[in-house]
Amino acid sequence: MVYYADYLQLDKILDAQALESDKHGAHAHEELLFIVTHQAFELWFKQVLAEVASVISMLDSDYVAEADLALCLHRLRRVNRIMELLCDQFTILETMTPSEFMDFRAFLNPASGFQSMQWRILERTMGLAQDRRVLQHYTDALRQEHRAELDRATSGPTLFDVVTRWLEKIPFMHTSDYAFWTEYRAAVHRMLDNDRAEVRILAEAEHRDPDPALRQIDANQAGFDALFEADRYAELIAHGSRRMSQTATLAVLFISTYQRYPLLQIPYQFLDAIVELDRLVSVWRYRHTMMVSRMIGMRVGTGGSSGHDYLMKTTMLQRVFDDITSLSSYLVPSAVAPELPREIATRLQFVNESQ
Ligand code: HEM
Repeated sequence: MVYYADYLQLDKILDAQALESDKHGAHAHEELLFIVTHQAFELWFKQVLAEVASVISMLDSDYVAEADLALCLHRLRRVNRIMELLCDQFTILETMTPSEFMDFRAFLNPASGFQSMQWRILERTMGLAQDRRVLQHYTDALRQEHRAELDRATSGPTLFDVVTRWLEKIPFMHTSDYAFWTEYRAAVHRMLDNDRAEVRILAEAEHRDPDPALRQIDANQAGFDALFEADRYAELIAHGSRRMSQTATLAVLFISTYQRYPLLQIPYQFLDAIVELDRLVSVWRYRHTMMVSRMIGMRVGTGGSSGHDYLMKTTMLQRVFDDITSLSSYLVPSAVAPELPREIATRLQFVNESQ
């Protein structure tokens, strides 16, 4: 017969809080909170990794059925709710004062969150590029067996890889006599021409020089045009300013522009959930960084990093899906979006598994 405590193996979990301060004969009341909080984080990381792995395996296919994409969305939304909870969870640990933390911090040396293998698996599985890492040798802190486990757990495709591949296969973007990008590019140029006209009218009315604002619009247009030209796009990739392939990028613009069509609603919500996950991982990093600066100020970390400075850089620089987020600069209002040819518009009205 299944018994509650056996099923949940509570004897293991509830017997897993050994206070270092007790081992040193200097009991620190807050250390239990510190351990339980970390364990709760790690348990939720486990759930997050299971969900993300299932999403990757469903998307890792030449054809992703509508129902599978809906399931991926469902699971990603769950991941995002967990990440929100984890961002909030810091507030509980923050009820510990910095001096209460100092009562046992020295006993923890050189252990550090740096050694959280599951967090490393999450970063890698999402597709954080090695050249974006603030510290390139981040795995040095891990024990040999954890490094091996990290390599094993992340040997397959990343979330970034499978999302890119899925986007590259989005149909409907062209027919024999229609190409979405030609129409879209013209629509954005018209929009930017309108912006220029408004800048000139406003500058004249206010007796201001319109050139700085016009130069900014020109730069925006140049960045936008580069998305459509293979050579210039290749340069963007070579310079590291974009990572996602050109076809996948155009698919993001297509899905975002025509998100109201029934067949694009789930793809759009899915992209939105991906961007949300990327954002929540950054919020997690930020919340952790803020807590760290309150607890230890500008001291170096027990893992040997610069502490606050290092963590702040990871928050700002280690985004995975900013290729998608950055496209918002080039979205046109739906009123000026080019009309789709009737053939494509009709097909986008229906969910057809044979597409
Ligand atoms: C008093 C509370 C905490 C302090 C003072 C603190 C401090 C730090 C510091 C200074 C680092 C940078 C690495 C180093 O040099 O050690 C770090 C990294 C890290 N900490 Fe914490 N931490 C705290 C709580 C937590 C909690 C509750 C978690 C939850 C699992 C956590 C997870 C991590 C992770 C995953 C990293 C690696 C971040 C990265 O390299 O991107 N920390 N922590």
